[in-house]
Amino acid sequence: MSTHIPDGNVSIREVKEKVVIEGTESEYDNWGEYAPEARSMELRRWVIELDDGISVVPVGDMSSHWIWYGPSPGSKAANIGIALATVWRGKGIGAIAQRLLAQCLHDEGIHRVEASTDVENIPEQRSLAKAGFKLEGVIRGSQMRADGRHDIQGWSHLPGD
Ligand SMILES: CC(C)(COP(=O)(O)OP(=O)(O)OC[C@H]1O[C@@H](n2cnc3c(N)ncnc32)[C@H](O)[C@@H]1OP(=O)(O)O)[C@@H](O)C(=O)NCCC(=O)NCCS
Repeated sequence: MSTHIPDGNVSIREVKEKVVIEGTESEYDNWGEYAPEARSMELRRWVIELDDGISVVPVGDMSSHWIWYGPSPGSKAANIGIALATVWRGKGIGAIAQRLLAQCLHDEGIHRVEASTDVENIPEQRSLAKAGFKLEGVIRGSQMRADGRHDIQGWSHLPGD
């Protein structure tokens, strides 16, 4: 699956190990302490690639972890996250990549794809809206980062969104 922008063709590719891409850090992944239990959380990873016709450049990465709303297979949702390298932000790549990943997970039979973002992260909120995600509300006091506790927004994408 891929989508064209003026800089080239954007596609996503699942990878087994994290691909280190320079410049993807942001204030929103300054976690501070890691909980030992969180290290065993099953994470899937994708690299976002841009093909300009000459070369294929990794421009960012995405991940997903499972959220269970009940024990039945249909109650398994995927919560996704994204980070683009600084130089590739603001070009619409985030919306394309998140739409592609939501579609890919729906194709695997996952009905509900979620994304959560800081209430102050306007670029990600705009990006999710452009990707077809719907805002569900504020998840109060849910995220602890090195600089303290934060409210986050909950967004979701269902088949057909
Ligand atoms: C968040 C992120 C994935 C968005 O992807 P992107 O490709 O840069 O997003 P877009 O180019 O589609 O731009 C998103 C929108 O935010 C707007 N925007 C950017 N910076 C903004 C700001 N400071 N204030 C208000 N709007 C802003 C853009 O104008 C654009 O809106 P528009 O399309 O209506 O003009 C990317 O910026 C990123 O990786 N950021 C750092 C990591 C991060 O925050 N990840 C998400 C954590 S939950």
